[in-house]
Amino acid sequence: MSLSVIILAAGAGTRMRSSKPKVLHRLAGMPMVEHVYNTSRALGADQVQLVYGHGGELLKQQCRHFDVEWAIQEEQLGTAHAVEQASVNIDDDDIALILYGDVPLIKAQTLDTLVKKVTGDNVSLLTVVLDDPAGYGRIVRDNNKVTAIVEHKDASDEIRKIREVNTGIMALRAGYLNACLKKIDNNNSQGEFYLTDVIALAVKDGNEVVATQVEHSYEVEGVNDRKQLARLERIFQADVADRLLTQGIGLADPLRLDVRGELKVGSDSFIDINCLFEGEVTIGSNVSVGPGCIIKDSSIADDCIIKPYSVIENAIIDNKTEVGPFARLRPGTHLQTNSRVGNFVEIKHTELGENSKASHLSYLGDSEIGKNVNIGAGTITCNYDGANKFKTIIKDGAFIGSDSQLVAPVTIGENATIGAGSTITSDAEDNCLTLSRNPQRQVRGWRRPTKRK
Ligand code: UD1
Ligand code: CA
Repeated sequence: MSLSVIILAAGAGTRMRSSKPKVLHRLAGMPMVEHVYNTSRALGADQVQLVYGHGGELLKQQCRHFDVEWAIQEEQLGTAHAVEQASVNIDDDDIALILYGDVPLIKAQTLDTLVKKVTGDNVSLLTVVLDDPAGYGRIVRDNNKVTAIVEHKDASDEIRKIREVNTGIMALRAGYLNACLKKIDNNNSQGEFYLTDVIALAVKDGNEVVATQVEHSYEVEGVNDRKQLARLERIFQADVADRLLTQGIGLADPLRLDVRGELKVGSDSFIDINCLFEGEVTIGSNVSVGPGCIIKDSSIADDCIIKPYSVIENAIIDNKTEVGPFARLRPGTHLQTNSRVGNFVEIKHTELGENSKASHLSYLGDSEIGKNVNIGAGTITCNYDGANKFKTIIKDGAFIGSDSQLVAPVTIGENATIGAGSTITSDAEDNCLTLSRNPQRQVRGWRRPTKRK
């Protein structure tokens, strides 16, 4: 039996007060609808249908990497009408699972349980018990069997007391879903076609409604405004922190960690407060990450120390290396074993060899730096002439004096020394001292200027 997921994402989301379609607002750095899409895929859906309406162009553009069928709902006439736009394209014997683009934290495991309960033309429905059920469709039971869902606006005071509510998430055979949808009308207080009427129809047809109560209500919480989105963001992040702690990773404060992507960390590593990890980040064992670091799409090997406020993107850091504080590693940086990058050093598209150091205030771009090299404070590789980029090569054992400019293309030889304050415009020989500096002069009789009266 195949599984077809329908994701409803046609709502305007006016309460977000945004020009963007609601489902594109991000949770953990990813559009809400992408979380739902990824969960559908993790569940092993054979087909995913995305029902869209508002902001269709932007949605299609930002979701172009999804493998989905697009179903347009021109007018938002209600959830039953929305589902129908997609379900008519699904094979009768598929199981249709209905999800929502603005309910981002639903777990694949919960859905798996739900889907497995579909037999014949029974309806498998996900419900939740809430302390404050106001606004939601109530689950009406008779002798414990679900008999109907009554929307809050259509409910009597007695029914409004029921705390078990409809999450909107359900699974059933597509053929039966379509048969029900044909019968649904909009004779209700909102003049909408309610998907929830499927439940009453199933009961009338003698089919069972199997309700599964979800344990954590955040899994089925929908986002209508930015406050709710921010709340779910914190829940998501707390979950990530929890998993890291369980794995044996030290966190200075689980409330001050943000992961927007996939973070893998080895044992005995420690992450201090206010760090942000984006994209795919891999951190080895026994690594310490100081406060305020931002690390994106990078890998850091064992026994490294990343000191506070370092910003690292698309970099590879080999073991036993120290970075920061206040270092900026840009794309294409590779720091080899036991190297050091200190404060206010910017590195881009550069290989820094084993045991080499750039400890203070430097810019190293498009360079290849060997082993045991010392880059003095204030060294700059002048890699750009305003039109093209050029390479700087610094060979093993070289020593670059402070405040030097290496004008690329240029090669500094093995064990070469560059005198402090030099502007090097042509290759420096191996084992030599090279410097560009005017002889030091003394001006006799010079006086400091004084203030005029
Ligand atoms: C719906 C349920 C209610 C349940 C609640 C849970 C119905 C009739 N009611 O109510 O029982 O407790 O969800 O949150 O189903 N949408 C479309 N097209 C439409 C209408 C809605 O795509 O024409 C999408 C919305 O963007 C939203 C979702 O469907 O993501 C739910 O719609 P909404 O109108 O918010 O339903 P509720 O009134 O909250
Ligand atoms: Ca509604």
